[in-house]
Amino acid sequence: MNKKTKKICVKGPASLKGKVNVGGSKNAVLPILAATLISDEESIIRNVPDMTDITVMIAMLRVLGKTVERNGSVVTVRKSDGLTGEAPYRLVRKLRASVLVMGGLAARKKNIRVALPGGCAIGTRPIDIHLKGFKKMGADIKVSKGFVNLNSSGLRSAVINLDYPSVGATENLAIAASRTEGETVLENIAREPEVEEMLAFLEAMGVEIEPSSRSVKIRGRKEFRPVDFTVMDDRIQAGTYLIAGALKGSKVEIDFSHPHVLEALIHKLEESGADVDVDGNKIRVCGPSRPMPSEIRTAPYPGFPTDLQAPFCAYLARTKGVSVVSEEVFENRFLHCAELMRMGADLEVKGESVIVTGVKNLTGAPVKACDLRGGAALIIAALSAKGLTEITGISHIERGYDNIVHILRSLGADIREEEEVNGESLNND
Ligand code: UD1
Repeated sequence: MNKKTKKICVKGPASLKGKVNVGGSKNAVLPILAATLISDEESIIRNVPDMTDITVMIAMLRVLGKTVERNGSVVTVRKSDGLTGEAPYRLVRKLRASVLVMGGLAARKKNIRVALPGGCAIGTRPIDIHLKGFKKMGADIKVSKGFVNLNSSGLRSAVINLDYPSVGATENLAIAASRTEGETVLENIAREPEVEEMLAFLEAMGVEIEPSSRSVKIRGRKEFRPVDFTVMDDRIQAGTYLIAGALKGSKVEIDFSHPHVLEALIHKLEESGADVDVDGNKIRVCGPSRPMPSEIRTAPYPGFPTDLQAPFCAYLARTKGVSVVSEEVFENRFLHCAELMRMGADLEVKGESVIVTGVKNLTGAPVKACDLRGGAALIIAALSAKGLTEITGISHIERGYDNIVHILRSLGADIREEEEVNGESLNND
């Protein structure tokens, strides 16, 4: 049988010139889709990006009993005959964020079963904080045969202090609280822009939401309004193109609805010698010939985003000096380092940090994307490397980047996708 795989081929170095329009935020759309489970009214969601993670979440909603239509970047979710209470492993294993359906299902059904996602390339990623919260809301929880079973005679409102400001736990519990009678208070919550966006969606549905600096009060209800909601642009894609635009000789303008949410990255790019100018919804970036070294430490928002750590690491590979990159959100997010080293980067992983000793030039090489943002890092490195880089494992990149090959080509990069059948390349332009 013929086995087809795809790879991305980049001939560097590239000087990128031009404009990028960033599409909708994956990490905002995912919890928003999950939140539609609490309502029987129609939800129209606009600016939905074309990525495999979104396709899987839509498939999950359909399996659970929702009617979902997709027309380009507009997704319409409607009620159907009734919800089933089981989120199957075949979908959860493709998309960890599908555990976000737990909140909506638990608020509506007495007995539900959601497959446990297990670990992934960037760490064990448990969901204990989600489960502790549901327990506080009165659910009896049993984990058996790879599934979480949540049983209750109806969730009740509670005051829940999260052990860590987990993005997913904040979203899951906020969705559940929105359909639970009374006032639920979530403390020590994540304040990522995507969490705010989902709270804005719940508010548009009619839920009363009162946020304060690190907590939120949610007054649940059973009746909701139909919603027509346009999702914010994707800050991680915008950030990735900003980093690409800071490569030597590049000059890129990014059209992005919320430039202020990229402040931590913009600050670090400026520190490295890039010229960054924010003007309304436009961010213009112009790269230094060789960046200055930097120190970054990932942290919950407004700190430096863990999702941009790998692409920034690739950018720092060519600095004049030594940089230190510390990953404090995920336990194992340095898989890209070994691949970057194959391209000539001088990196040393020490516990939760990587020491990046800048080299003058990277060189093209065959490399493999092992996770989504690590894959983006390889593209950044390939754009600045001399010669041909062939990146395999691109299904990881397709999970979270909408049309990245086309966008970079429009900026002048020599980049294309190729299909391989049994290891033989076929041009797939
Ligand atoms: C979300 C984002 C992901 C981003 C991350 C941090 C989506 C779909 N994904 O992931 O792109 O990198 O936020 O900004 O929005 N943890 C626990 N127990 C829990 C929950 C989390 O120990 O119950 C740990 C995780 O293992 C991780 C850290 O907390 O080390 C952060 O996780 P969390 O904020 O929950 O990230 P996700 O929602 O999975």
